[in-house]
Amino acid sequence: MQRRILIVLAVILICIVGIALYMTVGTSGSKETLSSELKNNPSMDAAENPLAGSKENLSADLAAFTLAPQKKEITIRNMTGVPVTYILKPLGSDKNSVEKTLAPQDIDRLSGGIEMAIVFHRNESEILYWLDSGKPYTFRFDENDELELYDGSHGSSDAEDLAPFVPTPMIIVEKMLEMAKVDKNDIVFDLGCGDGRIVITAAKKHGAHGVGIDIDPRRIEESTAGAREAGVEHLVEFRLEDAMKTDISKATIVTLYLLTKSNELLRPVLEKKLKPGVFVVSHNYRIPGWDQKEIDFFSILDALGEEHYIYLYQK
Ligand SMILES: C[S@@+](CC[C@H](N)C(=O)[O-])C[C@H]1O[C@@H](n2cnc3c(N)ncnc32)[C@H](O)[C@@H]1O
Repeated sequence: MQRRILIVLAVILICIVGIALYMTVGTSGSKETLSSELKNNPSMDAAENPLAGSKENLSADLAAFTLAPQKKEITIRNMTGVPVTYILKPLGSDKNSVEKTLAPQDIDRLSGGIEMAIVFHRNESEILYWLDSGKPYTFRFDENDELELYDGSHGSSDAEDLAPFVPTPMIIVEKMLEMAKVDKNDIVFDLGCGDGRIVITAAKKHGAHGVGIDIDPRRIEESTAGAREAGVEHLVEFRLEDAMKTDISKATIVTLYLLTKSNELLRPVLEKKLKPGVFVVSHNYRIPGWDQKEIDFFSILDALGEEHYIYLYQK
């Protein structure tokens, strides 16, 4: 009996020693352990950390804030149709830079709180912009087919991103309304209304009714405040809606400052929903397939000497 107890005790002892040995040898130097240490201890510097400087060892804190969505989120959307590579550089911390490649249509979401710059290549040069916390940005090709980062993008996956926010200069707004012969009997719809300046001007200067549609809530807030300031709230209305889906059947004039491709997407909506005779005025970009409907064209310089085009169509 005593011998049996001794054998059992010996077996238990051997097992304990075996497990202890396995734990010591089996985990030392493992890569996974190093990277999780790095995640939990972002202050480890290059000298202490054998993975520092490698691509996998991005930045622990950058990785952390990329994963944790917060209110002050920065979004970068790729609308170019090709992958775009860029580097994110947190302020004052070059070693924490991260290189990323964004697939077409993808959105990079960075929770805010860290000031950072974005760097990308255009031809031979390096372009650097500072990103503002809480703001959306979009990569697109500009009119010269060169990569550009634009301010603005609604970032919703269920609506077309028709254009970034770039306001029409006031001199062009006035010319667009003059070409469409807007008066107090009109209902002007601006599809992608930005800060609401077109419908606000149509109301203030011509007494017209207006409806501004934008997918970005900040634009709708700005437009509503602008209408109040101009004293035309009784004439205008701003709706947080997708321009592709909104009801435009009451419009007598439609204004657009979108991209050519967006105008092309909108064309079937304009054809289906607008009454015959309605004027459509487009700043800078033609409506493909509507050549027969183009009734006027104007070229005008803004205050900075830049040339703008206005296309007038009649449905
Ligand atoms: C170039 S800005 C034009 C602003 C204004 N119409 C002007 O001319 O000053 C384009 C606007 O379209 C908005 N937008 C983009 N996609 C949209 C969509 N699917 N529906 C409604 N608005 C959209 C953007 O938020 C942006 O404010």
